[in-house]
Amino acid sequence: MVPAATRAVLFGPPQNDACFIDPIHVLGKDFMMTTVEQPTSAWVPGPILGIETSCDETAASVLAVDGTVLSNIITSQHAIHQRFGGVVPELASRAHIESIEDVSAEALQQAGLAWTDLTGIAVTQGPGLAGALLVGVNYAKALAYALNIPVVGVSHLEGHIASAWLQDPAFPLPCVVLVVSGGHTHLYYKEPGGHCRLLGATRDDAAGEAFDKGAQLLGLEYPGGPAIDRLARQGNPEAIAFPRSYLRKGSLDFSFSGVKTALLYRLQAMPEQSRTSRAADLAAGYQEAIVTVLVDKAFAAVRSSGAHALAVVGGVSANSRLRALLQQRAVSEDLRLSLPPLAYCTDNAAMIAAAGRQALRAGLRAPMDIDAQASMACSFDLSGLSGFSGLSGSSC
Ligand code: KG4
Ligand code: ZN
Repeated sequence: MVPAATRAVLFGPPQNDACFIDPIHVLGKDFMMTTVEQPTSAWVPGPILGIETSCDETAASVLAVDGTVLSNIITSQHAIHQRFGGVVPELASRAHIESIEDVSAEALQQAGLAWTDLTGIAVTQGPGLAGALLVGVNYAKALAYALNIPVVGVSHLEGHIASAWLQDPAFPLPCVVLVVSGGHTHLYYKEPGGHCRLLGATRDDAAGEAFDKGAQLLGLEYPGGPAIDRLARQGNPEAIAFPRSYLRKGSLDFSFSGVKTALLYRLQAMPEQSRTSRAADLAAGYQEAIVTVLVDKAFAAVRSSGAHALAVVGGVSANSRLRALLQQRAVSEDLRLSLPPLAYCTDNAAMIAAAGRQALRAGLRAPMDIDAQASMACSFDLSGLSGFSGLSGSSC
């Protein structure tokens, strides 16, 4: 059960709720202030709650003081959005509101902790769907206020990057990080000090988008990435060739619009019956074209940067063919590879808690009036600037 004061901040005092405790009773008469300062007393590190609601997963996770993941609860809304072939923002916000309280309570319960054991909260501030982010940010702020603990707003992208160290805290720096998700295909060089320098990015679709749009063309279910991954296992990746876009020589940028158009034209040129009978070969060839470019460019970035380690994160890093190719190449090139377990690839709150933990330890705090930022830039994408949005200092 979430502290009653939090429920009041989120939804207003319920009229007939047996669980409701008068917040003024709990927190004192200043409770109804809208802008409040964060706790000023010295912060003692302890368990941290992470909250993620940027798209269609409601997730909460508790990290122990040493960064160990004590719980990682994810409620997916795929069943809600499936019949629309994509995420419907309004439905996503509604579903987050309905499940955030239970998901957070479950994360606490599975961690074996009480609300009062928490010492900080990290929440995805952006980028993402505005209404969806708002649910997490407001919930986190209310909870932090009720518990009198600090809150930090985390960039979703920085969360994905932090996921590379969840399972392997000793993974070395410098390294190259490939972020491949529904919204990003970015290659970074993460310096020994932790700062990320952008090496390359997609010029059009993100890799996840290419999977999702390709799946739509093939008549597969949403989300498309896992559907193509499953179907491709029954197909021959060499049977139908698809173009692989490397752009100019030495470029670390990506482009996936060509392969998507090639799939469309191939399908249009096929009789209806072949589209079905050859679906597995089409999926396998299409997937191969995407993942081969990802692998080639990631390893090219490692070579050209002089790093000896590569981390691949984000939803697309769950792809079984991509994982197999990366593992083979890492062995043959004697390279240290961080490929997070599947639960940390697609959207989750453990990665947000991990990024937030660094921020809190660095002394960063968000003011209580932080807001969701649908198009939040990453601190390291703003040249010269460092630090989480709305905060000061650097963590990545
Ligand atoms: O990181 P993520 O969960 O959310 C974003 O931040 O976007 O990534 C979602 C993307 C979707 O495009 C989804 O189709 C893709 O990751 N994805 C996959 C696989 N699992 C998820 N793509 C290819 N193969 C998969 N197994
Ligand atoms: Zn994501």
